[in-house]
Order: sequence, then structure tokens, then C-alpha cells
Amino acid sequence: MIKDNMWRQRRLGVPKRTSELIALVALSSTLFLFLHTRDLHSRLREMEVRLQPSENDISSNQLSAEDAQSAVSLQTFGALRRTSTDVYETMDPLDLDALNNTKRANKHVLFFNRVPKVGSQTFMQLLRRLSMRNNFAFNRDQVQRVETIRLAPYEQRQLVRLVNSYAEPSVYVKHVCFTNFTEFNLPQPIYMNVVRDPVERVISWYYYVRAPWYYVERKQIFPDLPLPDPEWLKKDFESCVLNGDRECRYIEGEYHEGIGDHRRQTLFFCGHSEKCTPFNTVGALERAKLSVEKHYAVVGVLEDVNATLTVLENYIPQFFEGAKELYWDEMDAFKRINKNAFKPPVSEAIKEMVRKNFTREIEFYQFCRQRLHRQYRALKLPTNLDSENNL
Ligand SMILES: *[C@@H]1O[C@H](CO)[C@@H](O)[C@H](O)[C@H]1NC(C)=O
Ligand SMILES: *[C@@H]1O[C@H](CO)[C@@H](O)[C@H](O)[C@H]1NC(C)=O
Ligand SMILES: *[C@@H]1O[C@H](CO)[C@@H](O)[C@H](O)[C@H]1NC(C)=O
Ligand SMILES: *[C@@H]1O[C@H](CO)[C@@H](O)[C@H](O)[C@H]1NC(C)=O
Repeated sequence: MIKDNMWRQRRLGVPKRTSELIALVALSSTLFLFLHTRDLHSRLREMEVRLQPSENDISSNQLSAEDAQSAVSLQTFGALRRTSTDVYETMDPLDLDALNNTKRANKHVLFFNRVPKVGSQTFMQLLRRLSMRNNFAFNRDQVQRVETIRLAPYEQRQLVRLVNSYAEPSVYVKHVCFTNFTEFNLPQPIYMNVVRDPVERVISWYYYVRAPWYYVERKQIFPDLPLPDPEWLKKDFESCVLNGDRECRYIEGEYHEGIGDHRRQTLFFCGHSEKCTPFNTVGALERAKLSVEKHYAVVGVLEDVNATLTVLENYIPQFFEGAKELYWDEMDAFKRINKNAFKPPVSEAIKEMVRKNFTREIEFYQFCRQRLHRQYRALKLPTNLDSENNL
């Protein structure tokens, strides 16, 4: 389970005076950062207002991820076509240089701070195989009892130093918030990640932690872990939402510290700051968008696997050359990894209820999706049936 680190810090009982000092330092550096990024923020907001997803796009979001891949893709393509003609008058939306953050990395190290339940296990396996094909080293973190994704500054420093110590070229994979290497005066790696429809993702997580094999596997690694309550295991997502159980109540601004909380996909892009924690807030959304624009080479989208693979191959060729072929040749093997056979379907009505409270998470997902599709179109690939299907 993943949870925030703040709880641990609190238990350690940092003396009051020290925490005040830390708060003061944090406050002043945040202020500095704020002044620094205010300009960028407002420019970005300007762009975003014009990039709001169309009605079509939102409704395509309601389709189930696995079943309606091509329908979703076609609708999005329509939306993007409109955007490109109406919106950009003064700037070139398909400026390859602006869309290629790989160029701005200072090191041939790929940093994949993978979001859980977005098929990232599959992408990790893909990278493992690509490491043999494309001659780079593959590294990942250890399985942890409690996965900590928000790190204290000293832990961030340890992490960036570790990743920086790898010989080039290599990849490092870990469930962790966006970590800014530049802040620690270290060369910037190539950042990548994958996102998924946030409501599908939260449902996937709900059943993942209830799957029998999840417990068996964890029990093997950590024998003293207690077994969960059978009532909790048996509870389905719909009843959980309808009963308004704590676990399935999604309230704006909530912190949910100390509970394995997977409702915030944005957290993986926003960063380690306290400002990133409250659920579905504008502040966290803006910071997450900013870090994607500024740092991420590629943020793939589970619902658009082909576009994701093509963009990865073209924007991060050193690592992803041949990815599409490998993916489809060994698709079955990849897909079987981590597939949860115990996940029952959830009705559209319930999904719709939940969606109403995930507005910023959905906006972030759409933002990543539009960016991926802009990257794809900027490649100006010859139109053929395959790419038509794709986008
Ligand atoms: C959505 O948010 C509203 C307002 O905070 C709350 O009353 C409602 O219970 C939430 N719904 C769910 C499914 O969490
Ligand atoms: C990362 O750190 C650098 C240097 O401090 C800063 O310029 C940049 O804005 C930071 N990125 C984000 C997303 O905060
Ligand atoms: C992006 O930049 C990387 C590194 O310079 C380069 O290898 C790649 O070909 C570029 N991709 C595109 C589409 O320009
Ligand atoms: C993705 O590409 C593969 C292989 O080229 C193809 O078989 C599949 O139909 C494509 N999927 C979509 C949704 O276009």
C-alpha cells in the first residue's frame, strides 16, 4: 500500500521548534518558487483555457477502457482536429522542439515514476525487454511493505543521488512523486509516465487490493502482515459508493493521510509538496500540468496504447526503438501480468456519480491525452489505416 510520509514524520515526533523552522523555510522557498513560476502559470492557464476538452471528449471518457479503445480514439481525434483549426492562431501547436523534452534532459537516464494501476507493470516489463534490445541498464526499487510516494527532502536527496549514480544509459522505475533533480543541482533525467481514466483507475485499485493473490503475495514477502476483514474483502465498489463508506467518499480538499489513498493520479506529477495532497484541488492540478509541460518527455495514456508506443518510439528513441513491435508480439504475455480476474463490472450510473467528484483529476487526464496526441500529430506520419485507427 502506498501512503504519505507525513504520518511517519509525525510519529517520529519532530520537536516543535524544528518543525516551525522547517515550515518557515518551506514557506519562503514556496514563495520564491511561486514568484518564479507565476509567469509560467498564467501563460499555461491561457493555453489551457483554449484547450478545454470538448463535450465529445468528456463523454468518450465514460467508455470502458478496455472495450472501446478505438471509439475513444476516434472521438478524441475529432476533438483535436477542431482544436487545431480554431484555437492556435499565434502559435504552432505542433512545434516539435517545444514538444520534445527529451532534448532538455541532461542525462541518458530514464526516470519512470510509475503511477499504480495504469498498466505500468506492463510498461515496466516492456522496458525490461527493451533494455536487452537497446542496450541500457534496467533498475527498479525493491518491493516495500509500505510504499512511500511522498518523500521528505532528505529522502528525495537520497533518491536523486542514487539515480544519478547509474551509468548511462539506464532506466530507473519506482512508484514515487515527481522529483525535481534540478532542485538538487543534479542533471535532469528523461521523465516518463503513463496515466489512465481516473475513475477506471480508482475502481481497478479498489479490486486490486481485495484480490486473493495480492494478499498471498504480500504474505509471502511479509509473513507477519495481518489478514484483512472478510466483510471488507466482500464489499463491492457499488455498495461502497452508495453507502457512502469512508473509502469511497471523494471529497474535495481531503488529505487522507495515512490511508493507502490512490484517488489522486495528479500526485505523481505535482510533486512532494504538501500542496499536492488535497484531493481534486486546482492548486495540485496546476502544478501537475506545469511539471508535465516543463519536464516530462512523454506521458502515455493507457486507453491510447498505440499512440503512446509511437510517441515513445519517436521522442525517446534511445530507449524505445522497436517498442511497438515488441509490445504487440508479446502482447498476451504482457497483458496477463497483473490482470485481475476478480474485478466485476461497475455500472455507468455509479461511475457517473464518482466522476462528478473527480473533475480536476479528469481535467488532468484530458490534458495529458491532448498533449500526447499533439506529440503524435507533430510527427506528421503518413496517414494509413493503422494510424487512422490509432488516432
Ligand atoms: C461528492 O462530493 C459531494 C460534495 O462534497 C459529497 O456530498 C458526495 O458525497 C461526494 N460523492 C462521492 C461519491 O464521493
Ligand atoms: C524544478 O526545479 C528547477 C530549479 O529549482 C525550477 O526552475 C523548476 O521550475 C522546477 N520545476 C517544477 C515543476 O517545479
Ligand atoms: C527528441 O529529442 C531526442 C533527443 O535529442 C531525439 O533523439 C528524438 O529524435 C527527438 N524526437 C523528435 C520527434 O523530434
Ligand atoms: C494498434 O496497433 C496494432 C498493431 O499495429 C493493431 O493490431 C491494433 O489494431 C491497433 N489498435 C488500435 C486501437 O488501433
